[in-house]
Amino acid sequence: MEDKIKTLAEWIKDSTYTVVFTGAGMSTEAGIPDFRSKTGLWKKYDPIKMASVDAMHNNSREFYEFYRTRLKTLSDAQPHKGHKILAELETQGMIQAIITQNVDGLHHRAGSKRVIELHGTLREAECIKCGRIYEADVLEKSDIPKCKCGGLIKPGVILFGEMLPAEALRQADLETRRSHLFIVIGSSLEVSPANYFPLQAKHTGAKLVFINLDPTDMDDHADLLIRGKAGEVLEKLFITYFRS
Ligand code: APR
Repeated sequence: MEDKIKTLAEWIKDSTYTVVFTGAGMSTEAGIPDFRSKTGLWKKYDPIKMASVDAMHNNSREFYEFYRTRLKTLSDAQPHKGHKILAELETQGMIQAIITQNVDGLHHRAGSKRVIELHGTLREAECIKCGRIYEADVLEKSDIPKCKCGGLIKPGVILFGEMLPAEALRQADLETRRSHLFIVIGSSLEVSPANYFPLQAKHTGAKLVFINLDPTDMDDHADLLIRGKAGEVLEKLFITYFRS
């Protein structure tokens, strides 16, 4: 592990443009469960019954209860050392952008500036009829939250069956194509189109690094594979090579 972290440190220092791509495994050390590892949310709930457009309309009570539970988990969570180290590395000019699949806002709260949220954010909600934006706590105010215009209020996250936000996709594509080093942290890379970005980075000549607890189907594409916990690996990297 130590020699791989040394290699990663060298690659970061040599890279002129480094992009970090995070998934739910980046937040498990903050107490937020991921989706597909053995303790993941999709081991308990059926994502199509809980997190799809169809569920919002046809299984509304359970759908909104699921998101209120997720909101509670998020409100209890704090950015962990890994989030803070990524923010510090951005300040030092060692990383240029974070593309995240996470909706927990922990990168922002840790101080990262250039964060692209591919799957939206649970910090907000919006009316599906008139587009009015609400603070997320509107979901707590009634079983099935409705806008003044009568429309359903949807959590600000991308549901199964929805397109990803065009602007976030455009920004993520731009950052990916500019990257010389692309570091994936805590993702199974099973969900498209998010899982396209690591391959696109590799295709445009970036070095590809995976920091993940479990193997993924894309491991063969990685130039460097670090099997470990995000917070612990980032702490070893930072303390040994980047602490000012
Ligand atoms: N450190 C490193 N890796 C971790 C850690 C950790 N502390 N904890 C979990 N992991 C790894 C797991 O081994 C797993 O491979 O993170 C990965 C998380 O994968 P998923 O649960 O599939 O999460 P993610 O890849 O972000 O899912 C993508 O799927 O359901 C949708 O919208 C949801 O954004 C999510 C998308």
